[in-house]
Parts: sequence; structure tokens; C-alpha cells
Amino acid sequence: MISKKLPQIFYGGDYSPEQWPESVWLDDMRLMKQAGVNLVSVGIFSWALLQPNEDTFDFQWFDKLLDLLAEHGIYVDLATATAAQPAWLSKKYPDVLPVDEKGIRFSYGSRQSYCPNSPSYRRLSRELVRRLAERYRNHPALALWHINNEYACHTSSCYCDTCAEAFRVWLQNKYGSVAEVNEAWGTNFWSQYYYHWDEIIPPRYTSTFSNPSQVLDYQRFMSDSIFELYQGEYDIIKSVTPDILITTNFMVDFKPLDYFKWAKQIDVISWDSYPNPEPDYDLAITAFNHDLMRSLKGGQPFFLMEQASSQINWRPYNTNKRPGVMNLWSKAAVARGADGVMFFQWRQSVKGAEKFHSAMVPHAGENSRVYQEIAQLGKELTKLSEIIDTRIKAETAIIFDYENWWAVEYQQHPSQSLNYLDQLRNFYKPLFELNIPTDIVPVDCDLSHYQLVIAPLLYMIKPGVKENLEKYVAAGGTLIVSFFSGIVDETDGVFGEGYPGPLKELLGISVEEFDALEPHMANKVRLVRELGDLKGQYNCSLWGEMVKTDTAAALALFGEDYYGGAPCLTENQYRQGKAYYLATQPEPEFYRDFLRYLCRTNHISPTLVAPTGVEVTKRKGKEAEYLFILNHNPDPVTVNISGKYRDLIGDQEYERSVSLDSKASLVLKRGNI
Ligand code: GLA
Ligand code: ZN
Repeated sequence: MISKKLPQIFYGGDYSPEQWPESVWLDDMRLMKQAGVNLVSVGIFSWALLQPNEDTFDFQWFDKLLDLLAEHGIYVDLATATAAQPAWLSKKYPDVLPVDEKGIRFSYGSRQSYCPNSPSYRRLSRELVRRLAERYRNHPALALWHINNEYACHTSSCYCDTCAEAFRVWLQNKYGSVAEVNEAWGTNFWSQYYYHWDEIIPPRYTSTFSNPSQVLDYQRFMSDSIFELYQGEYDIIKSVTPDILITTNFMVDFKPLDYFKWAKQIDVISWDSYPNPEPDYDLAITAFNHDLMRSLKGGQPFFLMEQASSQINWRPYNTNKRPGVMNLWSKAAVARGADGVMFFQWRQSVKGAEKFHSAMVPHAGENSRVYQEIAQLGKELTKLSEIIDTRIKAETAIIFDYENWWAVEYQQHPSQSLNYLDQLRNFYKPLFELNIPTDIVPVDCDLSHYQLVIAPLLYMIKPGVKENLEKYVAAGGTLIVSFFSGIVDETDGVFGEGYPGPLKELLGISVEEFDALEPHMANKVRLVRELGDLKGQYNCSLWGEMVKTDTAAALALFGEDYYGGAPCLTENQYRQGKAYYLATQPEPEFYRDFLRYLCRTNHISPTLVAPTGVEVTKRKGKEAEYLFILNHNPDPVTVNISGKYRDLIGDQEYERSVSLDSKASLVLKRGNI
């Protein structure tokens, strides 16, 4: 349970009452109670008001606010207020402001603009955090800590001199000597050789491509530097309030930070989800991110820290969520393991850069569609308290490796269309559409409890990865690896033994050449024989390879070009298991049919067979299980179920089938009904 004080689904949002006169605060309390709000995030951007100058702190207004919330039975997710430093601080200590690749220092006047290695930022932010923790350690409203906000959102990398110095220290710890750095980065190329530590700098603006191994190490270093900020705050808070859990909010498809590495030091995962509510939006993208967030701590419940009640303000066009969509998408988060549904923000701002971003209380006030939907959702979530802490069981996993993502998308690669997340989504989307639960796991994960593991575009094979995958397949697992895998080691150096490097034996193949296709080029995947749903021929594009089988069997061949007739899908029996290799990017039907075939042969079944556009998940508790059925379609649907269920929100019983209106959802309980 995330907070013993609050054994319910969290419901609320970012609350910034400092933007209004105190007379509005009481009305906020009334509206929050009416909407079923039980938790608000306070203080996220309050540093300037909490500390007027270096020697003065002003907690009085904050005391009043927390007392008021406690009086009304509303808990706080207490932010450390370090996400945006005050103007006086940036002016007094200019080294706090970050510097871009071209050496231009950012100005203050926006937010989240600080150099992660700035000693002044580190010292002053930690001082503030210590005071906040000590002051509110026993406050009855305190339920959770919220460190900073969306780390690296606006400034994911800094290139200043302080960072350059810290980078050298990081490299010294990693490599020990300049000679080792030269070796790792391959600096005999283009006369990049270094003789002294002080010659080594961040990958700043250069005439053409920087050294890719240096860039990769800088990405690692930045993720670690920003993590040190988090860890510094975490340690202070833990030493003062050891029993209160700590979170920091993550983001969607966010590349700069290695969230798996970070997650080890985060008590509870939370994230901010802003899908575009336009008609063609691909729901699999959000589902993938929910599954990632759930998987970051091995299935432990996470929560949605932020979402929009309707429109946002930062896309070129910001359309509204249609009636019912906010409710449905909130349930979709809970369906995938969230124990909290929160918003940015409680009351819509009237000034500042986000005044046209929706909120739980919009400019139109309480007599509005948006607030009414918010109050309705609040009522419904109070009926779902018993699902907190229940788990989702997946037999399928997709490997997601941040360092691999960084390395494979470096500018100098065979195709600019080679996008790591696209390749993960090619496999994820059909699993989502088939309602097959899937975890998103790190490359060093214990894979033994999965029936099917997919490693798309595993370009980089770090130490231990080969052994981990071999162990899994040897024990009977089924693995899919897709093209351009096994190319480089952890320094981004190409393996000497040819592709797919250390995966040769496991996959039973070798790859002599790869071929990045122009957007107008295509090829065919021709099945050698019918494999259940997988049969005949499929179009493919983006990539081709010259594959030679060793111990593997060819299941499909390229149809055209100079490698026409050569294998493009192979299967290798490796001890008790099977390893598949896919050498191209086929059309979506191929992924669907291939995964159907492998799920059937590995006895992996969907949570429920449901009509297209109906998302179904299952959360399991000790005594009961909960089926979430969500109709994303513009029309009503009927879904067949087997067994007797009770709808937790509508309190109705169902057997055999349920009917759902467009955008409607059900949470059905089976067990001790
Ligand atoms: C992010 C931030 C919030 C707010 C929202 C707007 O998620 O954390 O402070 O700016 O975006 O969508
Ligand atoms: Zn810096």
C-alpha cells in the first residue's frame, strides 16, 4: 500500500493555491470534498515564495495551507519545491543556469532550468528540502513525498564547465586512466586521441559528428548526474521521515533518463500521461507506458501523477477530451496497475503560461461538463478501494534497454527511420490488441517466469546479456530477436566476430550484410510453410539482411532483390527452448499473425477474447480477481464473459455477457462476491 493513511485509490491533482487569494482556498476545499479528492500535490513550484532570499524562509502560508487540507481530510503529496529555483538565486549564483551545446547560457524566467552539477543548486536545494522535511515530518496531512518534478523535462543535458569537470571525474571512476578512455572511445579515429584528462570535454557543438562512444557516455553521465540530484533529496527525506514513501514523476516515452536504473531508488513509481485526444490516437502508446511504469518495480502498483481533464496547451493544436474519454482513460490506467489517478491541475490558472491548459475546476467553474465528469469519476473511484495492491500477471515480456535506445539512434546510423520505440511498438501493439498482458522489462531481468520474451532491435549487447538470454531459452523459453541486433558492445564498438555478435550461437545464424532501405523500397516475406495464422506472403520495408543459417531453420525467405530466397525469419532450437530471428520490418499483419502463432504454441491466452477496440485486463488479489472491460469504440459493444461477476461501480451482477456504451467501462469482480 502506497500510504497507510490513505488506503484508497489516490484522487486529486497538482494544487497551487498561491496563484489565488486565500478567499478561494475555502471554496477549493468545498469543491475537492464534493469531487471525492483525497490527495493533492502541493509546493511543486513554490520555492520562490517559500524562500524570499538566501537567509529567509517563509513557511507560514504553507503551514496554513497544510493545516487547512488536514482539517478537511485531504492528504498531501508534498513536493520538495526544487523544480524551479527563484530568480534571486539564479542572479546571485549564475552557475546554476545551464549551458547548451553551443555554449549559450539559459536565462531565468521560465522553469526547470538548472545545471545538474551546479554546487550552488545542490547546496541550496538540499537546504530547502531539509527544512521542509523537518518542519512537516509529523504533519497529519503528509502522505507521500514528491521529489522535484519531471526531472530533465526541459533541460536534459548541460554542457557547462562544471559539467565538463564532473564528466572527467565520472570517466575517471569508470575507466581509471586516459588510456582506457581512448580505448573505449576509439580515439585513433579522426585524430581524437587524448593525452591529458583536461583535454576531455562534453560533446559540444562541433563541425560534424561527434564521437558516438563519447556521446553515449555523456548520456549515461547526464542520467547519473540528474539522478544524484534526486538521490541527494531522497537521502535527506528518508533520514527524517523513514516511513513515508517517496516518488518523483516520470514522463511518456522519455529518452534522457534510464528509468530502470532510477526505479531501484524510488519507493513508488508515478508518471504523467498526456495522450493526444484526437480521433486517430494510437491507444497502444499509452498502454505501453502504463505497462512500462508497472514493470519498473517488478509489478508493484504505480500511480498516474498527472493527466489532463480535457485540453492541454503545448501541442500545435489542443483539442478537448470528448465526454467520457477522461473517465475511460483514467480507468485504463487503473486497469494496467495504477493505484492513483491524479491531474495537472486542480484549478485552472488565470495567469502564466498554462492558463489555457484544462484543470479539474475549469475557468467555467463547478457548473461545467469538465467538473461534473471529475466529480463523477471521484465517486466511482471510491468504490474501487479494494483493488489497491492487486497485481497483473503477464507471461509475455518485451525487453526495453535505455542505453540501447541512446546508442541505436545516434545520428550516424544506417537509416534515419530506425526508431527504437517503433520497433518495440511493432510487437507491443498486436499484443495490446489481442489483450495479452505484457511486461516491459530491462535487459538484465530474471526472465524465467515468462513464456515469451521479445528483444526488438537489440543493437547493443552489454556484458551479461548473452548469458541472460541463453539461460532463459536453454530452460525452455521462447525468444524473438529482431534485425540489427548483436552489433556493438557497451562502448558502441562493433563485435569482431561478425553479426549478431554474442547472439550467434543462441540464434543459430550469422548476418553477412544489412541493408537500410529507402522509404520507397520494399521487399516480401515469404513463408516456407504455413504456421497456423502465419502463412503466405507479407510486405516488408525499412530493412533487409543477408542471413545465413547455421543451426537455425528458415521459416520465411525474402521475396526479392539480391538476397531474395535468403532467410528472413529463422527458428533455432537451443536446448529446451526456441530463439527466433526476424531480419526485416514486415507489415502489421505479420506481427499480429506471428504473435498469434507463438502465443498459441506457448499456451499464452488473451485475458478475454473481445471485439476490436475493447481493452480487457485483469488484476488479481488474494481472494478475488478484477476484470476491467473498456470500450474505446464510437459504438456500443457486447462482450462475452464466462462466470459470474459483480460490477464494483454499478453494483450489478453479470453472467455470460456484458453490453457497454461507447466510452463506457466496467470493473467486474469475481471471487468472494
Ligand atoms: C507537465 C508538468 C506540469 C504541467 C503539465 C502540463 O506534466 O509536470 O507542471 O506543466 O506538464 O501538461
Ligand atoms: Zn552544467
